[in-house]
Amino acid sequence: MKVLVIGNGAREHALTWKISQSPLVDKLYVTPGNAGTAGIAQNLNIAASDVISIVKKAKELHADLVVVGPEAPLAAGIADQLQQAGIPVFGPSQAAARLETSKAFSREHMQKYGIPYAAGKTFTDYSEAKSYLEKQALPVVVKADGLAAGKGVTVASTREEAFNALQAIMETKIFGKAGDSVIIEECLLGKEVSLLAFTDGKTVVPMVPACDYKRVYDNDRGPNTGGMGSYSPPGFFDYDMILKITEAIIKPTVYAMSQEGSPYKGVLYTGLIMTDAGPKVLEFNARFGDPETQVILPRLKTDLVDIMMGVVNEKLGSTQIKWTKDACVGVVMASGGYPGDYITGFPIEVSSKVDKEIHIFYAGAKKQDGGRIVTDGGRVLTVTATGKTMKEARDKVYRNIQHIRFDGNHYRKDIAAREVT
Ligand code: AMP
Ligand code: GLY
Repeated sequence: MKVLVIGNGAREHALTWKISQSPLVDKLYVTPGNAGTAGIAQNLNIAASDVISIVKKAKELHADLVVVGPEAPLAAGIADQLQQAGIPVFGPSQAAARLETSKAFSREHMQKYGIPYAAGKTFTDYSEAKSYLEKQALPVVVKADGLAAGKGVTVASTREEAFNALQAIMETKIFGKAGDSVIIEECLLGKEVSLLAFTDGKTVVPMVPACDYKRVYDNDRGPNTGGMGSYSPPGFFDYDMILKITEAIIKPTVYAMSQEGSPYKGVLYTGLIMTDAGPKVLEFNARFGDPETQVILPRLKTDLVDIMMGVVNEKLGSTQIKWTKDACVGVVMASGGYPGDYITGFPIEVSSKVDKEIHIFYAGAKKQDGGRIVTDGGRVLTVTATGKTMKEARDKVYRNIQHIRFDGNHYRKDIAAREVT
């Protein structure tokens, strides 16, 4: 098979790494890819958002499967266009991806089908939003409705912080059109977990659960980021809970999309908070999570391409999906200043002391002519290790990360710490 992966994050490096192990694959392309994918596949130079050029290229290549990593091309209808061109695609249609791309849509969907979620209200008018906000209990959550690279959410503990966030989204328009409407919602208290599932619209198969760390600094301080680390499996989240959430939340969501004429195919990511009143949905994503994918895929025993073809051909029901019992920890190394402004172009040095068995999944990193790898983005790479126990996996990551360096780098020291103390 010829497979084309779209995206350039550590998630796509992990996807490409896993796909490259499939005996079904003889030619693997990534567009635009990064320094990591360059070593295991052929990078093409089309941006992930350039849907027209990607579809054209996929036709030229006679691709047998296109795997869409990020949400932007899904939002732009890449799955629909590939399907029209007769090219098998792993990723939902534009209409199905609204579960992620419009928080207003996903909330209506959850309300209609009795799926528990954070209560709140959507506004398109700034002064109405402001007067509603005045009356809300603290802490309160302010979110941009559209896509904002995981940074559109403020969990405000003071009213001033909440007003500032609202103004930044609706008046200053820091996220552009994504801030045309805003959601003000209750702050849910409890542990947060990400449960991803494969689905072909008929069958839903949950993956192993993972936890993500969104805040930039240790002990969940500082602004939200695209994700600073993750681990799988969380000790507080047992198999019964996976089944319960699959039955009560994921299946009804997926089946309702089919009933409404927008069947959902691909990965559905459900972000949840385990409140005293039971699990409640924070968000859906129409794709694999980043950095969850970097700790989930190393635990997958089954051929990922087999699973993806099961989804594409709507035969997921006859695909057996198996996982290891290993624990897996991933820590993101970021550029100095991220999630604010940062400078790129610093050489990344990986010492020969780094253990062979750990994974370095690159994101904002590019290979220069001559082979030197330099920083090229905010989140630069994820260091991932597996172990028989969480402690073993965690120790491996933190022992090895000291031997990976670039100017200004920073990373959290407390990823998975709560699981081992
Ligand atoms: P989102 O982009 O919607 O996933 O939000 C980013 C992060 O903000 C989430 O992963 C949570 O940690 C936090 N968050 C969002 N909404 C809420 C909420 N209603 N209650 C508590 N925390 C929230
Ligand atoms: N880890 C959060 C996300 O992928 O959106």
